[in-house]
Amino acid sequence: MTSYKELGLVNTREMFAKAVAGGYAIPAFNFNTLEQMQAIVQAAVETKSPVIMQVSKGARNYANGTILRYMAQGAVEYAKELGCENPQIVLHLDHGDTFELCKDCIDNGFSSVMIDGSSLPYEENIALTKKVVEYAHQFDVTVEAELGVLAGVEDEVASEVSHYTKPEEVVDFSTRSGCDSLAISIGTSHGAYKFTPEQCTRDPKTGKLVPPPLAFDILHEIEKRLPGFPIVLHGSSSVPQDEVDTINAHGGKLPDAVGIPEEQLREASKSAVCKINIDSDSRLAMTAAIRKHFDEKPGDFDPRQYLKPARENMKKMYIHKIVEVLGSNDKL
Ligand code: G3H
Ligand code: 13P
Ligand code: ZN
Repeated sequence: MTSYKELGLVNTREMFAKAVAGGYAIPAFNFNTLEQMQAIVQAAVETKSPVIMQVSKGARNYANGTILRYMAQGAVEYAKELGCENPQIVLHLDHGDTFELCKDCIDNGFSSVMIDGSSLPYEENIALTKKVVEYAHQFDVTVEAELGVLAGVEDEVASEVSHYTKPEEVVDFSTRSGCDSLAISIGTSHGAYKFTPEQCTRDPKTGKLVPPPLAFDILHEIEKRLPGFPIVLHGSSSVPQDEVDTINAHGGKLPDAVGIPEEQLREASKSAVCKINIDSDSRLAMTAAIRKHFDEKPGDFDPRQYLKPARENMKKMYIHKIVEVLGSNDKL
């Protein structure tokens, strides 16, 4: 058993309480690679922001869970080396789908886990979440649960009401499961193609897709029923069109990629939404920089030559999110 406390990590409890009270959101950035980790830490230190570094099941398969755990420990030490005396870094399991996976992470240095039972029937979601909570809380590890199913591009209608979190369930769910935070569905979705062109309108000037708005009425109803309770938004990349354009201009093919407009995430950050998940925007920033680099310097073959601009571009994006969208800067 390795406690996250030995690694210098923190859980989300105090971080979320401060974020809800202060009207800002904590960035939850997924990481799979060294360059993402370095860019996340540099951005968090430079902006004096708390940060959640999250690892998906796919990331564990790609990079190895043990390596990622030591990278998170390395992130704490790196932050100190960069001059941050008291880094507030959470190592979080993203979309844990079984008790066993959550337990393995808790036993191996994670300070926070998500148990995603959102695809299960309601009572099964509660039972699974409760089981994880009972185990996690023995070690002061915090637990994120999910209620409602995120919309996907496969849906015919983005505003498919049946997918949204039902406000009338949130008090019962959080009380009986004991979860520390709740991911809700109000119209965000994973990936770089959050909405089909049919679900959007088009900006007549740019020809770019304009996605349907998030369901703020549902968010406000949930906040009313669970005052001060930490709410999480998944699928919150904005899919910056300049990065998409760079990718497409340098041999890529991402037609009609579209994300969540930043002004809506800015508004959500001021509410009880205190954790905002961003993965796709990092993938786009990295890919755009690498494609551009290879187009301009086809003779380069040392990975450091193209991973350096990729890391710089991700760092720029992380700083932008922290300062201009989530408002978590200057909180350390
Ligand atoms: O929610 C999904 C995250 O973007 C992680 O994606 O499972 O491909 O690592 P992944
Ligand atoms: P994006 O695909 O919008 O970046 O969402 C990431 C996410 O929700 C990770 O859990
Ligand atoms: Zn997610």
